[in-house]
Amino acid sequence: MDKFIIEGGERLKGRVRISGSKNAALPLIAATILQKGSYAIGNVPRLRDVETMIRLLAMLGGKAEWTGDNTLAIDTGSLDNHVAPYEIVKEMRASVLVLGSLAGGLKKATVSYPGGCAIGERPINLHLQGLAALGCDIKIREGYVDVNAKKLRGGRVTFDTVTVGGTENIMMAAALAKGETVIENAAREPEVVDLARMLKRMGARIEGEGSEVVRIRGVEALAPCDYEVIPDRIEAGTFIVACGITRGNIVVENCNPLHLKAVIEKMKEAGMEIEESDSTVKAIMSRKRPISVDAKTIPHPGFPTDMQAQIMALMSVSKGVSAITETIFENRMMHVAELRRMGADIRVIGNTAIVKGVERLSGAKVMATDLRASASLIIAGLAAYGSTEVSRIYHIDRGYEKIEEKLKGLGAKIRRKKDEDLGA
Ligand code: EPZ
Repeated sequence: MDKFIIEGGERLKGRVRISGSKNAALPLIAATILQKGSYAIGNVPRLRDVETMIRLLAMLGGKAEWTGDNTLAIDTGSLDNHVAPYEIVKEMRASVLVLGSLAGGLKKATVSYPGGCAIGERPINLHLQGLAALGCDIKIREGYVDVNAKKLRGGRVTFDTVTVGGTENIMMAAALAKGETVIENAAREPEVVDLARMLKRMGARIEGEGSEVVRIRGVEALAPCDYEVIPDRIEAGTFIVACGITRGNIVVENCNPLHLKAVIEKMKEAGMEIEESDSTVKAIMSRKRPISVDAKTIPHPGFPTDMQAQIMALMSVSKGVSAITETIFENRMMHVAELRRMGADIRVIGNTAIVKGVERLSGAKVMATDLRASASLIIAGLAAYGSTEVSRIYHIDRGYEKIEEKLKGLGAKIRRKKDEDLGA
């Protein structure tokens, strides 16, 4: 398994271009199952999770190939299989995003019931309740979810917990249901809005996307389309925090500051100077140490759970004490133990981490446990004294395109140690 070796102490300077959003690209690829035909999707990040979704599409009879650095040509004309097997769902739980588009497109779906993952149990009960409200007949057998959507019709879906994937699945199924669907307590994430935009370009009739009530009036058929994925707001936020911890001065390009408001406000509170344009964020941290700020993760437009580990790394060298509360996932604090090994002073009480800032972290051998925890360890290593070795970085390859090249481009001393080198 590859590792990153990071020599801390370099201040990040320069410009970095943000890739397309992983969490938008995955549902957009799933949406091509709704309507047979040819699609060209641009600004798709080259990530392990995207390659997994491409493999899943191929298993269903679709075809997807890269026709440019980040453009996917997708052909679902010969889609003929509705089964998403255990092997692929085990590898990426976002495979469940084909539930809604198979129910809408093929009127049946058999998807392996996703297990939990490092950050939590991550059930799909709300997805299934939503599909049942749309007239689907659902059976769980031998670890699979069987959905019979022959009688797919509009309905009222009220989520008791905001669910991004649940909202996306119901939007996709409802697009081809008979009648109107109303989703209450819908997720408002930009990735949900991006999916709604592509569905509307395909002819779906959707209103209210980005608010907590989304209305979908089903249509007889959709049409394939071309589309461009929005920039990855979490990648952009990760680089802004990395700039903050290294007292850097960077320009983040090809991002959408409107998707990052809570993160930008939080970083200004921590002492960062930030200037926004419509597609860039200029971030400067002149202070020697960031100001301690509290953070609490809540659904968009609140502070994102996918930025919690990253802000915690920054707060571990702040001047003071900060409380970081995770309200979305029940086990998203595994980076704490690793940050402690670098000298961070963090105590976890329930779902809150009390972070007492230290002057400086010290480099160490640490282990990535999940995607965003990996990002927080890299951020910590960029500022730590000495060398940090982050192992199990296959986690980071799931969600960040060319992260070491991008960091090197900003002056970081980071290199990837391939498996075969490890013997050396
Ligand atoms: C999406 O996951 C993202 N993944 C996650 O990003 C992100 O952290 C999460 O939304 C929250 O913003 C993708 O978009 C591919 P949820 P998703 O359904 O849809 C509970 C990353 O790092 N819940 O909004 O799976 C669930 O357990 C990843 O890029 C139910 O109880 O998240 C969780 O506590 C990690 N029942 C909460 O809701 C359900 O049926 C939010 O989950 C569904 C969810």
